[in-house]
Amino acid sequence: MIEILQLEEAATLAAIDELSSLFSQCVDGGASMGFMAPFPPEQAAVYWFEVAKSVGRNDLILLVARLNGRIEGTVQLGIATPPNQPHRADIKKLMVSPAARGHGLSRALMDAAETTALKAGRSLLVLDTATGEPAEKIYEHLGWVRSGTIPNYALFPDGRFCDTTIFYKQLA
Ligand SMILES: CC(C)(COP(=O)(O)OP(=O)(O)OC[C@H]1O[C@@H](n2cnc3c(N)ncnc32)[C@H](O)[C@@H]1OP(=O)(O)O)[C@@H](O)C(=O)NCCC(=O)NCCS
Repeated sequence: MIEILQLEEAATLAAIDELSSLFSQCVDGGASMGFMAPFPPEQAAVYWFEVAKSVGRNDLILLVARLNGRIEGTVQLGIATPPNQPHRADIKKLMVSPAARGHGLSRALMDAAETTALKAGRSLLVLDTATGEPAEKIYEHLGWVRSGTIPNYALFPDGRFCDTTIFYKQLA
């Protein structure tokens, strides 16, 4: 059974081990998500501590997907936008553990992110993703609009260059 939860700061800190294991598996599995391989859970924990602080400052909304009681996926809504973009949010760090993929967790997380964004008054969502990776097709499938591609924008965890595609979705 898939359960989607929004974690506040204390709950984020309590979930750091699960979140770190998840993030480590995704980066070491080849996902271009800001970090290089190897990415051990201890290094991922440093990242999640910063996320917990951002949640506490109300700069970020953190959603997690639990499958059979365990955190197997997550996504973030960045809401620390400038004063002239109060209607916008950034979707960040959508990830599902390799073992739990293909069971609808990212669909459930992205649906919840949209509902949560609208509740927070955010009607325009923006994200970027590695070009040619499975997530690119999934965003299109979920109704996101492709804006364009920037060549060699980032690196894959193994050091190869990676193009990035920008998507947006107008919710209302
Ligand atoms: C990308 C990722 C999050 C997908 O997670 P997932 O839980 O396996 O995805 P889902 O099973 O929920 O699939 C989402 C939807 O996309 C569809 N889909 C899956 N693969 C697809 C493809 N190649 N083409 C088109 N649609 C696809 C699914 O059928 C589903 O749609 P539905 O609900 O209408 O059936 C996961 O592979 C992952 O964590 N990858 C590594 C991290 C990453 O790349 N994150 C993106 C960062 S921007």
